[in-house]
Amino acid sequence: MPSELYRCVYYSRNLIAGGPARIAEEIESILGAARRNNPRLSITGALLFNRGLFAQVLEGPCPSVESLFEKILRDERHGDIQVLAFGSAPGRLFSNWSMAFLGRSREDENLFGHIGRQTGFSAERIAGDRLLEIVRNLAYEEEARAA
Ligand SMILES: Cc1cc2nc3c(=O)[nH]c(=O)nc-3n(C[C@H](O)[C@H](O)[C@H](O)COP(=O)(O)O)c2cc1C
Repeated sequence: MPSELYRCVYYSRNLIAGGPARIAEEIESILGAARRNNPRLSITGALLFNRGLFAQVLEGPCPSVESLFEKILRDERHGDIQVLAFGSAPGRLFSNWSMAFLGRSREDENLFGHIGRQTGFSAERIAGDRLLEIVRNLAYEEEARAA
């Protein structure tokens, strides 16, 4: 039997030192790792960067989500990780993306915009607010289930 689909949603604080160019470089490296590793793990999801915060949605088979998230937790490029949701999910929300990226920081819009377009996922397709809304809704859903 295929293992259950899990979804993990969290946000964290950016700890990458340096300016926007350095941040863009590290984000490219994170997305490179995602492109390399996520398809093999059947992981799909989205990564949002906005004003010093990351928000990420990881979805896939439970063991894959667990092992990848453990690795991501140890990554020193971010900290103060707040898990909003971690549990079984009825279906994928990002089935087309091994890791969609959306950077939205007013002054850095041009810098991060091109990375988003490389992943085929950009403000033209989905507004940053919409992704945040998705992340927020997931958190509310989770809260409602726990209540
Ligand atoms: C916010 C954030 C999100 C990340 N997302 C992923 C991801 O989706 N997939 C992945 O393989 N690595 C991700 N990483 C990077 C991992 O922590 C780790 O550096 C990487 O998987 C190492 O890849 P390697 O084992 O192929 O060298 C992320 C890191 C950060 C800081």
